[in-house]
Amino acid sequence: MDIRLRQAHRAGLEFLGSTQKFSGGVLQATARREYDEAVPVPPTALDERRASVAQVLADSPAWAFDRFLTRWVAEEVYVRALPAVESIRPTVEAWLASPPPGRQLVEDPDVVPPQYWENEFHLTPGGWNGHDLMGPAITELVFHYVLVPGGVGAVRTGQARKDHRATVARAAHRESYRHIVEFGASSGRYTFALTKAYPGSPVTAVDLAVSSLRHGIATAQARGIEGIEWRHADIEHTGLPDGTADLVTMFSLFHEVPDAGAEAILAEAFRLLEPGGEFLLGEVAPYDRHSAFDAVVLDWETENRGEPYWREALGRDLVGMLERAGFVDVTSYGADGGVFPWITHAVKPDRPQQDRTT
Ligand SMILES: C[S@@+](CC[C@H](N)C(=O)[O-])C[C@H]1O[C@@H](n2cnc3c(N)ncnc32)[C@H](O)[C@@H]1O
Repeated sequence: MDIRLRQAHRAGLEFLGSTQKFSGGVLQATARREYDEAVPVPPTALDERRASVAQVLADSPAWAFDRFLTRWVAEEVYVRALPAVESIRPTVEAWLASPPPGRQLVEDPDVVPPQYWENEFHLTPGGWNGHDLMGPAITELVFHYVLVPGGVGAVRTGQARKDHRATVARAAHRESYRHIVEFGASSGRYTFALTKAYPGSPVTAVDLAVSSLRHGIATAQARGIEGIEWRHADIEHTGLPDGTADLVTMFSLFHEVPDAGAEAILAEAFRLLEPGGEFLLGEVAPYDRHSAFDAVVLDWETENRGEPYWREALGRDLVGMLERAGFVDVTSYGADGGVFPWITHAVKPDRPQQDRTT
């Protein structure tokens, strides 16, 4: 979307992006160096890692200001972005309305979001549906001006977010798919990586966030991207028929759901897949794959940056959870030998497990 903000709105958002970049790129790097030099052999258990970092960096200005500024930017970003998107409301509304009626989102009035979905993730006021222009505000302003230049969570400043999605999309095993179902599509950032990786393969993009889905539809329309069905539904109960997908995939979703929700989502993925179908997930790596300092930086999000399930999710045994859900051939690894994105791939057996030897 072609956004033209007034100078005051643009400058305010750019200042937040620069602040986050300085915090993550300079202050946090300094604190990491201080910790690594002070503790050459750090503990491995999360509680001990947290205590160790708190003790060693108790008097570190770099650590204190990195945490303070990261929290401040997370709060301030919506103080800036929502008035900014309001200031261009007529343009944004016209753009959201640009797809023809047959392509507009059909909202399901009966949908009941799970309780965890109502959280104000990333300190988003009112949650994903907290503002009728939240989708455009997040993608066009928060991502563009703050998160891409500044980095956040597992993504460091300067790392191209789009490439991470393309990397995960390409990690599925086939050349093309009969029907891809994406869970938690939001505004389509990963959806478009899927349509690019598998041209001609139809994608059903499912989410509960109405303004984000509308934003994704308008973006697809503007870019001439075909073959996506945008579906307003809970991914625990998509309403799609059994066995009609050969790839179910998601990016950056599982850290926003508690264990019970994760199990329900995997059961739904298993139900939707045909025998032999693939499951593919891109996420932040589990804590035990990170250095002590980096694990503590990530874990801090749980209490301080609207990520209430982060600790639960990054400590969970995802491979075991997939196997208990019935999947086989589960592999879990970091892209390019790193820790982000962390890719997990699994297969729905071509026949029930107990029959496989007969
Ligand atoms: C962090 S966003 C990730 C968006 C996107 N996959 C991307 O690549 O940027 C998580 C998305 O998952 C959606 N979500 C979480 N739980 C859901 C549920 N139970 N049903 C439908 N959507 C859900 C949220 O609405 C949100 O849009």
